[in-house]
Amino acid sequence: MDLFDKLLSDKGALGQYSFLDEDVNYYFFPKLEGEIQPRMKFKGQEMLAWSLNNYLGLANHPEIRKVDADAAKEWGLGYPMGARMMTGNSDLHDQLEQELAAFVQKPTGMLLNYGYQGIMSVIDALVDRKDVVVYDAECHACIIDALRMHIGKRYVFPHNDIENCERQLKRAEKLAGEQGGGVLVITEGVFGMSGNTGNLAGLAELKKKYNFRLLVDDAHGFGTMGETGAGTGEHYGVQDDIDIYFSTFAKSMASIGAFIAGPTEIVNHLRYKVRSQIYAKSLPMPLVVGGLKRLDMLRTMPELRDDLWTIVNAIQSGFRERGFNIGTTNSPVTPVVLNGEVLEACNMVRDLRENFKIFCSMIVYPVVPKGLVILRIIPTAMHTLEDVEMTLNAFDTIKSKLDEGVYREAGVEGAMMAKT
Ligand SMILES: Cc1ncc(COP(=O)(O)O)c(C=O)c1O
Repeated sequence: MDLFDKLLSDKGALGQYSFLDEDVNYYFFPKLEGEIQPRMKFKGQEMLAWSLNNYLGLANHPEIRKVDADAAKEWGLGYPMGARMMTGNSDLHDQLEQELAAFVQKPTGMLLNYGYQGIMSVIDALVDRKDVVVYDAECHACIIDALRMHIGKRYVFPHNDIENCERQLKRAEKLAGEQGGGVLVITEGVFGMSGNTGNLAGLAELKKKYNFRLLVDDAHGFGTMGETGAGTGEHYGVQDDIDIYFSTFAKSMASIGAFIAGPTEIVNHLRYKVRSQIYAKSLPMPLVVGGLKRLDMLRTMPELRDDLWTIVNAIQSGFRERGFNIGTTNSPVTPVVLNGEVLEACNMVRDLRENFKIFCSMIVYPVVPKGLVILRIIPTAMHTLEDVEMTLNAFDTIKSKLDEGVYREAGVEGAMMAKT
């Protein structure tokens, strides 16, 4: 069979819905235009956007824009050329990783070019065939991909199920002991789909009974959770129990890049082992200089976090009071869980965009179980209480229409005629 024919015979979990996008870039690959802020343009119309992880509103902050632009002017995008280990190092790279580490209360940090490939490579460097990994079932795709590369054993526990995790740990400790390996537990600070925080306190308790190291992907918790923004571990008072802390710059920092932080001797050891860094060009200077500026604002402007949480609390309590199911989120991520099939969800989202001018992301099967739809709201420090009110009212209307079965029929005003 021809490889390309075979590929096209199974379009995959998300590709199976690509036919919906004959109206190009509506549901998939939409293009939000204009300055990054709550009001952006989609297909020429102004929308209230709730779909960007720009939690603290830094993406378009005038001071950030200036520092980014000045750094691009001064350094260009090339400098420094080469991998960090060879010719791609600078004092500012060192400074950023040390400041990041201090911010998350760890001794030493290490920059990564991207979160996705960075954490994959970190996990790859941490474990070998003798080591056993225990991980939460809802971990991000980058962690799952890392575990696909892992040639040793891995045991999964149902999301946040600490009793099951303990059972897996018993097995893992036994097997690792027999093989002369160690145990790595991986979870997230904040799970990006449900908004649930990882059970970090439960894992910290387990550390008293079992010998393992804990890696936490705190992509959504960095800058948003904890009194100083140091993340979900700080929020629960267990930051010290996180052995390797990871975050991307792609959320509250509104940039590109990522880092890990942990014990000095381990991080320094990883510098010689993390393949995505050894064999790839280091972060361009504007991202490093921009990173230092963003971190400075995270440190010195706690009001940004306060503003974010004002919106989070208003929209989450509003949804709950109006009888919406927003799951068990205890972070800014706000999933509105509704019952409906994929095509119904598309009609509903089109109604929301065309008639209510609200733009949020839609999550459908297979990311969530069949028959469920999540409209995910990401509050930011830049949203207002009026935005919240407008959104709650719009959701009341679309939910009533959904319950009445309006979106089941194609041809709803502004909705798509679904092709089967
Ligand atoms: C939990 C989590 N980990 C890792 C990543 C990957 O980070 P990056 O976008 O920097 O590749 C993401 C998405 O950005 C994420 O949500």
